[in-house]
Amino acid sequence: EKGGYEFFMLKEMYEQPQAVGDTLNPRIKDGNVVIEELGMSDDEIRSIRKIYMIACGSAYHTCVSAKYVFEGLARIPVEVDLASEFRYRHPIYEPDTLAIIVSQSGETADSLAALREAKEHGIKVLGIVNVVGSSIAREADNVMYTWAGPEIAVATTKAYSTQLIAHYLLALKFAKARGEIDDTQMAEMVEDLKKLPGQIEMLLENKKRIQKFANRYLATEHVFFIGRGLDYAISLEGSLKLKEISYIHSEAYAAGELKHGTISLIEEDTLVTAVATQEELYKKTLSNIQEVKTRGAFVLAVTNEGNTEIEKTADYVIYLPKTNKYFTNSLAVVPLQLFAYYVSLGKGLDVDKPRNLAKSVTVE
Ligand code: M6R
Repeated sequence: EKGGYEFFMLKEMYEQPQAVGDTLNPRIKDGNVVIEELGMSDDEIRSIRKIYMIACGSAYHTCVSAKYVFEGLARIPVEVDLASEFRYRHPIYEPDTLAIIVSQSGETADSLAALREAKEHGIKVLGIVNVVGSSIAREADNVMYTWAGPEIAVATTKAYSTQLIAHYLLALKFAKARGEIDDTQMAEMVEDLKKLPGQIEMLLENKKRIQKFANRYLATEHVFFIGRGLDYAISLEGSLKLKEISYIHSEAYAAGELKHGTISLIEEDTLVTAVATQEELYKKTLSNIQEVKTRGAFVLAVTNEGNTEIEKTADYVIYLPKTNKYFTNSLAVVPLQLFAYYVSLGKGLDVDKPRNLAKSVTVE
């Protein structure tokens, strides 16, 4: 059933182009985004004044990404919460708020409790869920399915990628309804979305090169991921993926925070993965790369094609094809997933079933 792949995780990474296409295509009509299951008119969308985005783990990371995308494109304030925090923090509920709960399994105990908490306070809940008919799908007021298909590996890959797509579609729909983007901008961004499956497929072809690189880091003890803006959001995911399946201690930092403590941990040969896809922040991240290099770090950089001058500073560079600045996480995640996978594989670990973890966390 692994279809010739050594582990489900690799199979599921390879299913990403299909899963992303399946989540995207039914919701694109004539250069426009159509989300029938949203159950909200344009007037209702315009009346929303705040969005809570609530989830756990990787699903939470897609919410961190989505905050940048929603606020950037649709200009709606977004509060991102870990479900385990939201359910106990007594948020200040206001009218015209929407809560979006994101979950692959639809059974995560904290996410379900957060959903109930929001509903009890009269907040409308939209679920972004992968498992059809799951508890979160049933209890949410409306549900937008991610069509990733069954995900077996504990480390999520294709479900994560489809959650990003659901967020982009919603952000575009909201941006359009609120007059923040016009038809031309919408059509251009839709074109960029349609290119993502092919671009993801292309990035997966890097696997041999990334495996070779990963094999050099099997004995490493600490890895740091840095980035700014959306590149910070993807760093969180890259770091979780690595620690989850390779048991290497890793942390993600907003690159601007390095100076506030973390940089003291950088020594000769510490691996730092720097993501720099956001052109307006590129120079800033580049100078953070320089700072860690000066302290002896080995830097793996992920950036957009064309940014070749980064090779003067970073030791190893992975280039991503061009896309809209709001969609880069969908591409940057691929090399980070491959890196985590090959470190785990190289260490001889059970990639699909890391110790102490369950696929679906149904207890608090
Ligand atoms: O089923 P869910 O999306 O609600 O699960 C949330 C997290 O438990 C999940 O994303 C977890 O962090 C993954 N194992 C990460 O790869």
